[in-house]
Amino acid sequence: MAGTGPRLAVLISGTGSNLKTLIDAIADGRLAMQICVVISNRAEAPGLDHARQAGIPTQVINRKSCAQGQTQDQAVELALRQAGADLVLLSGYMRILGAELVAGFQGQMINQHPSLLPRFKGLDTYRRVLEAGDAEHGASVHFVTAELDDGPVIAHARIPVETGDDEASLARRLGPVEHCLLVAVMELFAAGRVSMEPGAVLLDHVPLSQPLEFRNGSLNA
Ligand code: GRF
Repeated sequence: MAGTGPRLAVLISGTGSNLKTLIDAIADGRLAMQICVVISNRAEAPGLDHARQAGIPTQVINRKSCAQGQTQDQAVELALRQAGADLVLLSGYMRILGAELVAGFQGQMINQHPSLLPRFKGLDTYRRVLEAGDAEHGASVHFVTAELDDGPVIAHARIPVETGDDEASLARRLGPVEHCLLVAVMELFAAGRVSMEPGAVLLDHVPLSQPLEFRNGSLNA
């Protein structure tokens, strides 16, 4: 995909609705980034079609695709290096990356997660938030560290949990909010305003004492 700005690699396993949001934001000139590769561990991931339609190189990396003696992490790392990725987004990528690969991209790898981290790390966040009786749910974008869903959180977006909500209704309402959050965070990266030091997110070189909040269409301290 032609464009300017940081070279973003996106790793997916499924629908790729967040990927599609980024592709559209770049195409509309709202986001100064270029997606250099989309990698999936599932050949049938529907999100790959979004990339193909936009002319973005895609790669399927799974156990079957790896050369003998090559681990999946090594193949992913090679693909990211060959694509010249400055930033890596895990966007519904349902495979845990090893500590070595993560360390190689420290401060350059981010994950989006459908909960208000540190609440509800891992899977089934919609079910768990309903079971816990929380008044709100949300989405996070955070730097990736070796521990699952544990790295410094850059930003949250919140939605209320309403009477009668079930997992499907929560997911339906959170989806578009999560898309907007992602674009807003990516704008910070495109502008070179966000970075990581161990245990902290830096915004304009100053550590954040808490994650940014996505409210009324923009990120607020
Ligand atoms: C998002 O909810 C993201 O937070 C989670 O997986 C979902 C990906 O959705 N990690 P999509 O594939 O972008 O539609």
